Amino acid sequence: MARSFAGLARNAEKKKASIAVSKEPLESPPLKIFTLGDQVLRKDARRVSKVDESTRDIIKNMLKSMYSAKGIGLAAPQVGIHEQILVIDLEIDNPTTPPLVLINPEIIASSATLDTYEEGCLSIPEVYMDVIRPSNIKLSYRDEMGRPKKMNADGLMARCIQHEIDHLNGVLFVDRVSNHESLGVALKEHGFNSKDVQSI
Ligand code: NI
Repeated sequence: MARSFAGLARNAEKKKASIAVSKEPLESPPLKIFTLGDQVLRKDARRVSKVDESTRDIIKNMLKSMYSAKGIGLAAPQVGIHEQILVIDLEIDNPTTPPLVLINPEIIASSATLDTYEEGCLSIPEVYMDVIRPSNIKLSYRDEMGRPKKMNADGLMARCIQHEIDHLNGVLFVDRVSNHESLGVALKEHGFNSKDVQSI
């Protein structure tokens, strides 16, 4: 049986709309973001074996919580869900650009060139410190429909992806800060404890 064009258009629309959420901050975001000191952040995330509606519900709730906190990236373990799911949006002030969803992300190549960049994290509010990481990466992942994908990333995108993948392994950016003295001061200033850092 032939499908009508109208039917195809509706299907395409349905697929496109599957994780669309408003970028407007919510008064009560659906998921709580855990902060440094909570052991929930130190647990490994497991691979997602099947990407389905329940995965997309998690993604939508993660996006709403990320936008409400004015973040550009969020990893599932930060909201107490230990599955390999990341959401990223470098254009949170642009209501129409779609977010990037990375499921089971794996870095398959990293550049020898390194960059130093000041990072922050929704799990360590208001603490910003320099971290050194590879400038460019290549990764494989599944998108929100479960389709296998590959991408190259540089600049802020490469930085954000590496920061978020660390969360899937229980690693926080403060673990990678080499200036321990400044880190200690910054953490204390914002009510965090240096003993919760696990230097690597
Ligand atoms: Ni983070």
